[in-house]
Amino acid sequence: MGLNIAMCKGYFLVVVLLGSWISCGEASVSYDSKAISVNGQRKILISGSIHYPRSTPEMWPDLIQKAKEGGLDVIQTYVFWNGHEPEPGKYYFEGRYDLVKFIKLVQQAGLYVHLRIGPYACAEWNFGGFPVWLKYVPGISFRTNNRPFKAAMQKFTTKIVNMMKAEKLYETQGGPIILSQIENEYGPMEYELGAPGRAYTEWAAKMAVDLGTGVPWVMCKQDDAPDPIINTCNGFYCDYFSPNKAYKPKMWTEAWTGWFTEFGGPVPYRPAEDLAFSVAKFIQKGGSFINYYMYHGGTNFGRTAGGPFIATSYDYDAPLDEYGLLREPKWGHLKDLQRAIKLCEPALVSADPTVTPLGNYQEAHVFKSKSGACAAFLANYNQHSFAKVSFGNLHYNLPPWSISILPDCKNTVYNTARIGAQSAQMKMTPVSKGFSWQSYNEEAASHDGNLFTMVGLVEQINMTRDNTDYLWYTTDVKIDPSEGFLRGGKWPVLTVLSAGHALHVFINGQLSGTAYGNLENPKLTFSDGVNLKAGVNKIALLSIAVGLPNVGPHFETWNAGVLGPVSLSGLNEGKRDLTWQKWSYKVGLKGEYLSLHSLSGSTSVEWVEGAYVSKRQPLAWYKTTFNAPDGNEPLALDMNTMSKGQVWINGQSIGRYWNQYKASGNCGACNYAGWFNEKKCLSNCGEASQKWYHVPRSWLYPTGNLLVVFEEWGGNPYGISLVKREVASVCADIYEWQPTLVNWQLQSSGKVNKPLRPKAHLSCASGQKISSIKFASFGNPEGACGNFRQGSCHAFHSYDVFERYCMGQQSCTVPVTPEIFGGDPCPNVMKKLSVELICS
Ligand code: GAL
Repeated sequence: MGLNIAMCKGYFLVVVLLGSWISCGEASVSYDSKAISVNGQRKILISGSIHYPRSTPEMWPDLIQKAKEGGLDVIQTYVFWNGHEPEPGKYYFEGRYDLVKFIKLVQQAGLYVHLRIGPYACAEWNFGGFPVWLKYVPGISFRTNNRPFKAAMQKFTTKIVNMMKAEKLYETQGGPIILSQIENEYGPMEYELGAPGRAYTEWAAKMAVDLGTGVPWVMCKQDDAPDPIINTCNGFYCDYFSPNKAYKPKMWTEAWTGWFTEFGGPVPYRPAEDLAFSVAKFIQKGGSFINYYMYHGGTNFGRTAGGPFIATSYDYDAPLDEYGLLREPKWGHLKDLQRAIKLCEPALVSADPTVTPLGNYQEAHVFKSKSGACAAFLANYNQHSFAKVSFGNLHYNLPPWSISILPDCKNTVYNTARIGAQSAQMKMTPVSKGFSWQSYNEEAASHDGNLFTMVGLVEQINMTRDNTDYLWYTTDVKIDPSEGFLRGGKWPVLTVLSAGHALHVFINGQLSGTAYGNLENPKLTFSDGVNLKAGVNKIALLSIAVGLPNVGPHFETWNAGVLGPVSLSGLNEGKRDLTWQKWSYKVGLKGEYLSLHSLSGSTSVEWVEGAYVSKRQPLAWYKTTFNAPDGNEPLALDMNTMSKGQVWINGQSIGRYWNQYKASGNCGACNYAGWFNEKKCLSNCGEASQKWYHVPRSWLYPTGNLLVVFEEWGGNPYGISLVKREVASVCADIYEWQPTLVNWQLQSSGKVNKPLRPKAHLSCASGQKISSIKFASFGNPEGACGNFRQGSCHAFHSYDVFERYCMGQQSCTVPVTPEIFGGDPCPNVMKKLSVELICS
């Protein structure tokens, strides 16, 4: 085998140099201008990102299985350095960080792996994946031609590669890994840094290739990626992209399925029609590898969210939702797309497209192989109107902003704007509320640990090393009894400038105000009147980091915490500068110091209960126990009556919550047609950016689960409830002549020689039944799943059909044909069926 690998590597280089396509033995991965080849076979590869620490090992098999059923060939993940090496030289590969286990599960499912070792990840992950200790290596400068950085990067990259080799996980060893990635989107950084940036790219490329993995490396968003590394595209659209050498395949490593949520921001979503359109457009232009970023976004458990201000949910509007359930219709619509693309694969991998205009905004891309395979993509780029085009003596009707796929150059199997898959509306149903809470109030800056005193202000991360979000800055302010404001004047104004990210101001133990930044500008200024008394006053500033930055030029040098100036104005003397007086520092909270979140630590203080439980109290700890609810639906905590803090279940953090930060933005209607960007389609405006917090089932025992909440600001724990996530209703929205795979098979095999009607397939979750019909109309109904409305044309038997076919069933199938609805309600009008069925 060893020889084989070496040989393959040799061939691999030859392939690259000659730009020709050669297969090499039994196990090999190579590439040419058309595609990645596995064992000598060019492949159209559909990949999806699932980041292993963003779910639990118990969820992995199901996620991978659903990815496979969804038509994926490859699972892509970053490797999360800071999770694997929390302290220099101390490695961790267990639990959610069991990388080998994750890869082996992908292998068992029969899928490939694209391993993005980075080790820089970005990914809205804390510090972009870098361990915080790395920042404190003497002389270090991240992601540039810097000796200490390169040494650390090489050490970790080598460690991962060797681990993969030892476990025989590379394809050349019989494993699933067919591709790797070094660095991440370094192109823009290199541009900024100039020569040292370029030198670093060259070094990183050589370092990676020299590791001899036997599989190709990619560099994404890096136009000058050195040979043999393939430069790839990331974005909402990548059809315009070409690799930097004619002998490299056109690859799209991040096709963004949605976008991330930040605290304070609305929740972005991307219509499935536009996502499918962008993918079909990429394929029709000769693309052969697509990775959905994310396929399952998951959860930023603990303090893994980056940003700052990245929310705990990393749902991403991905085809599998945060909880691992199918997001419909996106999952199903992409599955149908993938099947359509795979039907075209023989033509796609062996021919270059010929492009023919079919109208002002319409084009045909045709792939014809020597062996006779033919596949065509008919595109209508017009955002506003349908196009009737003729192609090969036949007529085709193309919806706005859509591409039809014809795997035989004749019959349409799929159109990106015609969704055959069902939609589902989800609901969060309370399963237990009315927890009986106990509370413990900590006082401002009250623990004995980590105390030190010095003149002036300190940078926060330098102090906390990111072991906690919190750093206390405390100082004394002497107020002379002769101060004018003490005799009915205006309170003096305390002004605090902070590099971020959030700040609570306590005056003599009382919360006096709060300020915070946002993702675009984490800096903040607190400026407000404070109630001081004659004598010595204690000012305690609780500075809070909300995730470390994960992207930007030298983000490792960005500061957090109260760097000043800090001043008090409105005194007799005018303004008093507090910046350069004596400050005392405490790292973390008292409750953290005592591990109140854990079973053992939670007994170390006196908790109160019943009527004594505090409400609207800052710095409050709450605890309760609960039993695991029956069933296997995913669970979450509804934290809507709380403000900001963290939650632990049985000692494990499910992440930061910040319900008090409401989403600002414009959540208007969103049409799938037209260029998409992350600001186009938004939801949750005016509400909490994140309401629900995923509680993994596997973290629960059957009984007596410890739930601990730390509330910084003030909230009402009695409003917290445990909810389960389930399907509320399912919808179909299908046009009368919409193409389907089954019909295409009948037509292309010559069994049927006429247009065929589609069918609506509807199914509730297993264990559920269709209990009522919320809406049904065959005609010209309007609206979307959740708010369909009848139009001017409506078949009277629309409801009856679903009564008969669907009621009481778990799933049902109904042909979309006028006869079944009692005849054509409006001849010569294009009709569709819209239906919503309640599941319970
Ligand atoms: C990309 C980056 C990813 C992720 C994404 C946004 O530029 O490579 O890691 O951060 O943006 O979700």
